Amino acid sequence: MRIAVGSDHAGVAIRQAVVESLRAEGHEVEEYGPSSSTHRTDYPDEAAVVAARVSRGEIDRGVLICGTGIGMSIVANKFHGVRAALVVNEFMAEYAVRHNNANVLVLPGRILCPEYAVRLVKVWLAASFDSGRHLQRIEKIEKIEAQNFKKLEGKNT
Ligand code: RB5
Repeated sequence: MRIAVGSDHAGVAIRQAVVESLRAEGHEVEEYGPSSSTHRTDYPDEAAVVAARVSRGEIDRGVLICGTGIGMSIVANKFHGVRAALVVNEFMAEYAVRHNNANVLVLPGRILCPEYAVRLVKVWLAASFDSGRHLQRIEKIEKIEAQNFKKLEGKNT
């Protein structure tokens, strides 16, 4: 799978652990973010790069890490076709795909340890979308997305 992993300074340790684990499993991995937690960056920058790659279909999945995961989630969900899920346990990692078909996983770097974060990524990648009634709900999200992004485009031009 082609996966992009991005973080700001608050997610460096988890990002590096996730990248190493994904590469060891044979995934094609792109990495975005600072090399050290002492190099501060702004989470919208990395989130936008990864979310745009997913939105354009250039990669299959994205993983984003900031301090709380909240900022990265807000940014990633601004992009067409991106369903970013902020996850803190294995149940959420599994159901983010089973019910929400989440194509971006967001993790809180200041809450999780790297080992548990790697575990959550594995659970998320192993899960499959349940479809059925959940597909109808995804279609409703897509309608809302189309309606609201049209308005924003009008406002910005
Ligand atoms: C950076 O200090 C922090 O604000 C950021 O990592 C993230 O938690 C934002 O939502």
